[in-house]
Amino acid sequence: MKNLIAITLIFVGYTSLFCNDNTVCKKCHPLIYKEYYNSIHRKSSLINDKIYKAVFEKEHAKKQKCNSCHAPSAKNLQQEKEAPISCIYCHTIKHIIENDKANKNILTGKKKDFFSAQKEKRDEAKVKFETATSFFGLIKRSKNSPYHQIEYNNENYYNGNVCMGCHSHVNNAHNFDIIMLDAYIDKKDKQTCITCHMPQTMGSKTTLSDSKTHAYHGIAGLHKLSKNLGKYINLHVKKQKNGFQVTLTNLANHALFGQVYREGVLNVTIIRGKDKIIQKPYIFTRIFGKGNKESMPFEATDILKDTLIYAKKTIVYNTKLQKGDKVILSLGFRLISKKAAKALNLQDDKELTKIKILKTESFSF
Ligand code: HEC
Ligand code: HEC
Ligand code: HEC
Ligand code: HEC
Ligand code: HEC
Repeated sequence: MKNLIAITLIFVGYTSLFCNDNTVCKKCHPLIYKEYYNSIHRKSSLINDKIYKAVFEKEHAKKQKCNSCHAPSAKNLQQEKEAPISCIYCHTIKHIIENDKANKNILTGKKKDFFSAQKEKRDEAKVKFETATSFFGLIKRSKNSPYHQIEYNNENYYNGNVCMGCHSHVNNAHNFDIIMLDAYIDKKDKQTCITCHMPQTMGSKTTLSDSKTHAYHGIAGLHKLSKNLGKYINLHVKKQKNGFQVTLTNLANHALFGQVYREGVLNVTIIRGKDKIIQKPYIFTRIFGKGNKESMPFEATDILKDTLIYAKKTIVYNTKLQKGDKVILSLGFRLISKKAAKALNLQDDKELTKIKILKTESFSF
């Protein structure tokens, strides 16, 4: 008997060490689980994200303070690796409290009752598993989940506010927002955080029913499906007397490239017959300072430079366009600038500073 208890204890210890909240969801939501597993929301912790780790160490930050957004569900190192922001965490955010330094997520604390969004079920709450037998008992049909209840009536899951507990702002001690999304959620918006970053993609949302599509949990962003996002930035070239101007119109409800160390890059090339005339790249970024000197984001007291794209941005070039010219625009980004890579000792990882493309478009004159 003693042995049995010991074995049971070892087994329980073992499973709780190697399982996490997400493992059970994987059984019925394998596709979503797989996407999540490769997403930034699984890679947001110290163990999984080297940029975050480098900054964390440089700032001598307190883990507790950063984990509230980067790894709120991690109780141990194994969870920090496998499920730092767990399925249950996101799906039990009841509401968001707005705060000066950073917002806060308020969870329901329930383990088997999840919020979700489906327009046609918007008012439904406490949706439970149902089975119905028809055709003289020969065909059994079921709907909803045998494992958990679903709440479809939380507005935050429709308008994108569910993202804002973590994504609204992170202010440093001098009240400078260092993740700077500057987002504004408006009822009239056609697109939301969710439609742009979790677009419906092919494949059933669960193995127990057959939906054609599901919300992409890999998160379209700078790491995945970047080109999908390009369509939300309109590019335009206008010929002028002594040159031309490029206008970028931002269809998102937030500023672009706002994360510290990020850089948007616009490359412009004019094709003239056999010649290529390359313009100086334009960089979209924000540079932090303490007084007049560049500084680490967490100690910044000033913004030395801000060339981010808010609603619209126009850049003027002074190369005169000729008839027959073709102007090729290529809008991309670096995850971190080369300067930041050096400061953070990450210069050996070329992937981090490589330009990746959001959108290219050409204009003929
Ligand atoms: C035994 C299978 C099973 C398990 C385990 C399971 N689910 Fe589900 N889940 C379902 C089914 C079935 C549905 C209903 C889908 C539908 O409406 O067609 C569902 C629906 C959902 C929805 C709402 C989908 C919608 O319609 O918008 C969410 C959110 C969800 N599950 C999250 C989770 C999370 C998080 C876990 C892990 C803690 C989990 N599920 C575990 C079977 C399961
Ligand atoms: C209120 C939530 C919140 C808190 C608290 C928070 N962060 Fe973040 N952090 C975010 C979000 C959201 C992003 C992603 C923003 C983006 O991609 O634009 C992010 C991104 C980052 C990045 C960029 C990571 C990358 O791969 O490019 C670094 C570095 C970072 N945070 C460091 C920290 C440190 C260090 C702390 C603790 C002192 C901290 N953060 C606390 C929400 C938070
Ligand atoms: C618990 C906090 C939290 C919540 C809730 C959250 N995020 Fe994030 N998100 C983060 C953190 C932290 C990062 C940055 C991780 C890193 O780079 O290390 C991030 C990164 C991102 C990125 C950047 C992706 C990329 O490729 O660089 C996007 C886009 C994003 N989240 C969208 C969303 C959307 C949409 C929602 C709402 C459905 C959401 N997030 C909810 C914490 C959160
Ligand atoms: C960053 C927050 C976040 C995380 C983490 C997250 N989800 Fe979701 N999930 C959402 C949001 C928001 C929606 C609603 C999308 C919509 O409008 O249909 C959603 C939708 C769903 C749906 C319904 C899909 C559909 O197309 O309607 C299921 C099922 C689901 N999630 C399961 C999971 C599982 C399983 C995990 C973990 C592997 C997970 N989620 C992790 C935010 C999240
Ligand atoms: C109309 C589409 C659209 C909507 C709506 C939208 N975004 Fe974005 N988002 C984009 C595009 C395009 C980018 C790529 C440019 C960039 O990195 O800023 C982006 C980038 C991001 C990034 C990465 C920023 C960086 O530089 O690290 C985060 C985080 C993010 N969005 C979160 C959100 C959140 C949270 C919401 C809801 C408040 C939201 N987005 C709404 C289109 C959208």
